[in-house]
Amino acid sequence: MNNVTIVGSGNWGSVAAKLIASNTINLRSFNDEVRMWVYEETLPSGEKLSDVINQTNENVKYLPGVKLGKNVVADPDLMNAVKNANLLVFVTPHQFMEGVCKRLVGKIRKDAEGISLVKGMEVKREGPSLISTLISNQLGINCSVLMGANIADEIAKEEFSEATVGYRRDKAAAERWVQLFNTPYFSVTSVQDVEGVEMCGTLKNIVAVAAGLIDGLKMGNNTKAAIMRIGLKEMLAFSKLLFPSVKDSTLFESCGVADLITTCLGGRNRKVAEAFALNGGKRSFDELEEQMLKGQKLQGVLTAKEVHEVMVTRGWVDMFPLFKAVYEISSGFLPPTAIVEFNNNIPHHIKNKL
Ligand SMILES: NC(=O)c1ccc[n+]([C@@H]2O[C@H](COP(=O)([O-])OP(=O)(O)OC[C@H]3O[C@@H](n4cnc5c(N)ncnc54)[C@H](O)[C@@H]3O)[C@@H](O)[C@H]2O)c1
Repeated sequence: MNNVTIVGSGNWGSVAAKLIASNTINLRSFNDEVRMWVYEETLPSGEKLSDVINQTNENVKYLPGVKLGKNVVADPDLMNAVKNANLLVFVTPHQFMEGVCKRLVGKIRKDAEGISLVKGMEVKREGPSLISTLISNQLGINCSVLMGANIADEIAKEEFSEATVGYRRDKAAAERWVQLFNTPYFSVTSVQDVEGVEMCGTLKNIVAVAAGLIDGLKMGNNTKAAIMRIGLKEMLAFSKLLFPSVKDSTLFESCGVADLITTCLGGRNRKVAEAFALNGGKRSFDELEEQMLKGQKLQGVLTAKEVHEVMVTRGWVDMFPLFKAVYEISSGFLPPTAIVEFNNNIPHHIKNKL
């Protein structure tokens, strides 16, 4: 019998719990109960978030108004939450994943399998690492990924969307994840390209920041479409340079072009970047994140910084003018208007490739 634990309980983590709980209750090979590790917080009422989730069946802070399913159990104790699980779903903001993994070393079942819903990468002196690789290396488990055009609040309302599971070798494991997540309103397929799927999910947040700047500058659809096109090309080129096995076809799955479109039209990275440009770059992304997202985390700006570090180390900066511009604008080195000016400074031989 399979036991599922979700490591994370933010906006997307809570929706993942709802999706999974609706399946475990109907599928015979899964135990009904879904454990959800909650990074404990005290609410303004003085109550603990995990207690309120268990009393109301609702994550009142990160997904208010949505019932998670009676078989979801919030657990603030990470070790207790994972101890019986053979299926671990990782879904915290990427900056917390290393710390979480460190705490889990030696504490999970030997036969555990993981899936990462985390968008972002770890950049160290030794080089960049995907979050699924970090999980595999630190915990010694096989780790697939699930990414897609998935703005959590829309899926919580059971509006139809799609997602892609990326797996390394184990097709049977991938099919089990598909079974666990797939619902009539959440259509999941799998591809054997874990790096391609994860790189798409990670890099599109940088392009979403660029799209938000365009909105804040009150530019129109043509400009945004141009930014998305250039962004998509940079995503593919960067992914292939880091991981030559990445398949072009992965870009046509939900994790690729569909996620890019939805994130550039909606989503928190776009929203905060729009506010940044509307304020002429005078209020920092950190300040806007705190004010606008109420505890939710922005990923695109951090990813732009991490990707820039990789580009500098490897001598790739001139090959990725859009990624570079997003980094320089979000770090305050250039004004928001530079998002459309970067185009003028691109050497001809590189421009032809964009
Ligand atoms: N929200 C979406 O629409 C969406 C969709 C697809 C993928 N994702 C990805 O899912 C991942 C998780 O995002 P989310 O939306 O569930 O989270 P969120 O941004 O809504 O919430 C932040 C979470 O981080 C937790 N947290 C704060 N400090 C922490 C710490 N020190 N250690 C561990 N946890 C801490 C908070 O308790 C909260 O659960 C991200 O990588 C994101 O890119 C999000």
